[in-house]
Amino acid sequence: MNNSMNVPTKTKRKSKTIPSTKNTIQPNRKIDYGMSKERFMKMFGSKSISYDDFLDQFKVSYGKMLKYCDFETKFPKDDFRISDKHTVMLYFYKILVEKKHEILGDLYDNYLAIPDKLDWTIEDNPLLSGDSINVRKNDSARRVIRNIFCDEILNDTRVTNSIARSPTFIGTLKMAYNDYILYDRFFAPSSIKTMMNSDSLNTFVYLVQSYQPKASILNPYMIYWLMRTQFPEAKRIFSPVMSWGSYLYASIHIPSIVEYTGIDVIPSVCEKSRRMLELVKGTKYEQHESPMNIQIFCKPSETFIKDRTFCKNHSGRYDLIFYCPPYYTFELYDSPNQSVDTYKSYSEWLKGYFEPTIELCREVCNPTNGRMVFIIGNYKDIKGNSYNLIGDCCAIIEKYFVLEKNYKLESRKAAMKTHEKTTGEHLMIFKKIII
Ligand SMILES: C[S@@+](CC[C@H](N)C(=O)[O-])C[C@H]1O[C@@H](n2cnc3c(N)ncnc32)[C@H](O)[C@@H]1O
Repeated sequence: MNNSMNVPTKTKRKSKTIPSTKNTIQPNRKIDYGMSKERFMKMFGSKSISYDDFLDQFKVSYGKMLKYCDFETKFPKDDFRISDKHTVMLYFYKILVEKKHEILGDLYDNYLAIPDKLDWTIEDNPLLSGDSINVRKNDSARRVIRNIFCDEILNDTRVTNSIARSPTFIGTLKMAYNDYILYDRFFAPSSIKTMMNSDSLNTFVYLVQSYQPKASILNPYMIYWLMRTQFPEAKRIFSPVMSWGSYLYASIHIPSIVEYTGIDVIPSVCEKSRRMLELVKGTKYEQHESPMNIQIFCKPSETFIKDRTFCKNHSGRYDLIFYCPPYYTFELYDSPNQSVDTYKSYSEWLKGYFEPTIELCREVCNPTNGRMVFIIGNYKDIKGNSYNLIGDCCAIIEKYFVLEKNYKLESRKAAMKTHEKTTGEHLMIFKKIII
């Protein structure tokens, strides 16, 4: 694989019509490189088994797998999982076998399907309240990102502040629906009662959605809103991590943005991002005034500051830089050249990955009106080690940039929130120091 592959995608935008910010509810196009319903359903096969076979195969993933016939050895006699054994097991038979297709189909439609329409209206959606930005408005925009990067987000990323052996979101569903192995937390009395007392048979998959590890997603609508309301003059955008294409997806809906350059080290993220313009093909967002130039580099961001050709071509070029770095070991992504694999200790990571990436951001930032939007939060890992990313990253950034604004991000629903070990995230706006 050519890691320094740089494939500019030029699309001639046809007319000078600039979409108004009103009535911008647009139909979405389907694309062939995301997670289709067919592929999603196929992951779970179509086999059906009798209740007796189900009882024979059902297991709970305690350290040693617990079989149905061994429940009595694990739970006290008065535990309802013993006294009401058949009611409980008939419930699991219903949701894992009998209603499997309805439940998984609904999950796809509500959580993974690209929504038919997305609301890009700005006037009626004030995200700013005091010093907080609400990132939940038009949250369904995240479904587009989740659909495109489904494997990477829901299957390949591990979250280190959850229980170490915890299977991912997709892994948990595959265990339950393909092998009838229930991840232990879903066989806890409180989980079973929540499921069985609910009117909906979908509660199991909602719990999996809430608790099992998955990568966090920035709401592209929030990025779009920020670009349009706070930086309406910005024409060229740069990001030293792709954040699953959220900045690019927002950019392609803004006609005044003519260029996006992004870096990441996950080849599939780079490849799918290069094709993102297909999402707006045939919609009014295709009709931009000038050609949009998309360049994606699949190479560690920290290496670019020493790349003379890159620096010569990109120096001072970008009006807006978006950077939400990996939060050190908080999420572990699946690819070569991940920053935490190259720089093992926290201090090495700050020095070897983070600082050269910030130097790069400074190098490419427009010296007159350029700004860097930086998103960061602190976290605690499973062993209880705390990482003061806000303080440590800002100490480095302030060698190269000056802080202009500091917002709190309100309720980003993600892996971060699930385990309540983060102290909230901030979105900061920095201006380059001219030397
Ligand atoms: C998903 S983003 C943003 C994470 C952010 N904390 C969040 O919650 O949205 C992190 C990205 O950094 C990328 N990354 C890791 N090491 C990198 C490196 N050395 N150079 C460029 N990108 C890197 C990962 O591949 C991943 O796509």
